[in-house]
Amino acid sequence: MEKPTPLATISVTSMIPFVIVLVSLQTSCAAPTTESMYVTFVDCLRNNINTPNISNIVFAQTNASYASVLSAYIRNARFNTSSSPKPLVIVTPLRESHVQIAVICAKSIGVQLKTRSGGHDFEGLSYISGEPFIMLDMFNLRNITLDLENEVAVVQAGATLGEVYYRIWEESNVHGFPAGVCPTVGVGGHFSGGGYGNMMRKYGLSIDHIIDAQIVDVKGRIINKESMGEELFWAIRGGGGASFGVILSYTIKLVPVPKVVTVFRVEKTLEQNATDLVVQWQQVAPHTDERLFMRLQLHPVNSMVGERQKTLRAEVTSLFLGGVDELVPLLDKEFPTLGLNKESCIEMNWIESALFWAGLHHPDALLGRKPNSPKFLKRKSDYVKTPISKDGLEWIWKRMIELGQTSLVFNPYGGRMNEISVNATAFPHRAGNLFKIEYSVNWEEPGVAAEKNFTTQIRRLYSYLTPFVSKNPRSAFLNYRDLDIGINHHGNNSYQEGEVYGIKYFNNNFYRLVKIKTEVDPENYFRNVQSIPTVKL
Ligand SMILES: Cc1cc2nc3c(=O)[nH]c(=O)nc-3n(C[C@H](O)[C@H](O)[C@H](O)COP(=O)(O)OP(=O)(O)OC[C@H]3O[C@@H](n4cnc5c(N)ncnc54)[C@H](O)[C@@H]3O)c2cc1C
Ligand SMILES: *[C@@H]1O[C@H](CO)[C@@H](O)[C@H](O)[C@H]1NC(C)=O
Ligand SMILES: *[C@@H]1O[C@H](CO)[C@@H](O)[C@H](O)[C@H]1NC(C)=O
Ligand SMILES: *[C@@H]1O[C@H](CO)[C@@H](O)[C@H](O)[C@H]1NC(C)=O
Ligand SMILES: *[C@@H]1O[C@H](CO)[C@@H](O)[C@H](O)[C@H]1NC(C)=O
Ligand SMILES: *[C@@H]1O[C@H](CO)[C@@H](O)[C@H](O)[C@H]1NC(C)=O
Ligand SMILES: *[C@@H]1O[C@H](CO)[C@@H](O)[C@H](O)[C@H]1NC(C)=O
Ligand SMILES: *[C@@H]1O[C@H](CO)[C@@H](O)[C@H](O)[C@H]1NC(C)=O
Ligand SMILES: *[C@@H]1O[C@H](CO)[C@@H](O)[C@H](O)[C@H]1NC(C)=O
Repeated sequence: MEKPTPLATISVTSMIPFVIVLVSLQTSCAAPTTESMYVTFVDCLRNNINTPNISNIVFAQTNASYASVLSAYIRNARFNTSSSPKPLVIVTPLRESHVQIAVICAKSIGVQLKTRSGGHDFEGLSYISGEPFIMLDMFNLRNITLDLENEVAVVQAGATLGEVYYRIWEESNVHGFPAGVCPTVGVGGHFSGGGYGNMMRKYGLSIDHIIDAQIVDVKGRIINKESMGEELFWAIRGGGGASFGVILSYTIKLVPVPKVVTVFRVEKTLEQNATDLVVQWQQVAPHTDERLFMRLQLHPVNSMVGERQKTLRAEVTSLFLGGVDELVPLLDKEFPTLGLNKESCIEMNWIESALFWAGLHHPDALLGRKPNSPKFLKRKSDYVKTPISKDGLEWIWKRMIELGQTSLVFNPYGGRMNEISVNATAFPHRAGNLFKIEYSVNWEEPGVAAEKNFTTQIRRLYSYLTPFVSKNPRSAFLNYRDLDIGINHHGNNSYQEGEVYGIKYFNNNFYRLVKIKTEVDPENYFRNVQSIPTVKL
């Protein structure tokens, strides 16, 4: 193919009229009301979008479809209530130029713009804001242009991971891409925050395979790797997209996968010596063959056997990039407490393994954009650098059983993750981490009482785990967005507030991100409660 084409790079001359319009707008609305913001914004779009009408990309709050468009990509029922802040307008761009114009028009009237791709942000930051805002909903920008000969694909931000996997599978049974397990997750948020999945120990993160990107900057220009420069390109691989502009697409390099891979899932309760299994998992999972990824989930459950009412279930779910004849002897030797036998293993191809991990049965399901069932969720994260002792684990199990509903997921690091430098991308959690903990609580009942109950419970567990996890900073994963670790009011202390969560998400890479942010968006237009702050020069 030709080299990845800048899909719809607007020529500089075609941009000039917008700038003129905007200058005159700015002076005419010093203190806009929400109503006038809406009118001015829509007028600005209408004046600049080169189609007879814009009615098919703009949803006003009064529009009958507004509510369903808004909730279509809300993935956390906590932010789907009548009191959740709502966008003044939803814009659903059909072309890249629509994104440019939306940025220019929103900025010119000083209204915030939130970009949503897949809507999976755990704190809803892509569609919630404390200040008046317009939402840019990227779901129509979902093209995936695959060039198998060069093993690359241009993936627009509104595509889902399932669509990426599906398109690869349509053309090849020996290629794949290392990204998340849940197929409805959006490329825009997932890749810009790092993106990890079950090939992480072999291939690292999604961002480790991104070779180019297109982004609309604060001036409404489309820039790519060459025109944005190394620094911004570095930032949007792990630093999140929302602080820097609107990501239009990423160009990814595919990775090879074997024709036959193996999956298994093994479960043990405390009565079946789950604690010994977890002790050994910590010794094996981060250090074993890098083709093997063994996720460990720990759930408090009702006991089926014995005296105890409640117990804990450990569940190991794995992907091995190879055959069962190699896997079983490997784990026999390294991980005998798992007791893995051939019968528990299933050989399949890579796309089937993606289905297995997602609990789906047919590749077409990867194209589905509806999640199973909307739930109320809260997540938190931690990194573990030294193994937790057996006594420590037993103490944690007691606390989890007392709390009742919060699960832990241990995702092993090591392998390729150890070989990539902490500052190769903005994502800093590389060598030295044994595993990441995801804290997870889901509930079904609406209402503040239930929310308080379950969020208190997950926060307690997080607090109990303090002695066992990374310190100074206590690190966290951006894609497991958690507003408990600090928020920014973007007032006079914006830098200090930003540093609190910033060093947790980015460690020392935070300071480089601030420098880049200050250069590319000095007025801090692209912001949210956990964005990268600017620094006064
Ligand atoms: C069910 C579920 C499973 C998950 N599994 C995994 C997993 O296996 N691995 C993993 O790493 N993570 C996982 N995550 C976390 C997920 O990667 C993050 O929530 C990610 O940010 C989601 O991207 P999105 O586009 O769907 O989200 P959105 O909510 O649309 O966006 C998330 C953030 O990115 C910003 N953003 C979105 N699109 C753009 C854009 N085009 N330009 C600029 N900024 C943008 C938003 O403004 C927001 O701040 C999971 C989340 C859920 C809910
Ligand atoms: C609602 O918005 C859609 C998309 O812009 C448009 O097609 C439709 O005509 C609008 N309906 C009303 C009643 O305004
Ligand atoms: C404008 O949009 C509406 C709603 O999508 C559509 O019915 C109408 O045909 C469009 N008009 C023109 C001139 O494109
Ligand atoms: C959000 O609310 C709408 C309308 O009440 C509902 O159809 C949808 O399933 C809800 N989504 C979530 C994630 O709660
Ligand atoms: C997506 O691809 C189709 C077919 O190549 C093309 O017509 C369309 O313009 C593309 N859309 C965007 C938003 O790039
Ligand atoms: C658990 O471990 C004990 C001590 O090593 C052993 O006697 C027992 O058989 C094990 N139980 C199971 C179910 O494997
Ligand atoms: C990246 O880290 C290495 C050491 O790991 C250091 O030598 C280098 O200067 C760092 N680069 C930047 C730009 O900080
Ligand atoms: C609080 O959580 C516990 C489970 O941990 C549950 O049994 C109880 O019903 C919850 N209470 C409310 C009000 O949701
Ligand atoms: C921020 O600083 C400016 C200048 O020092 C001051 O006038 C203003 O009151 C401060 N704002 C707040 C919210 O503290």
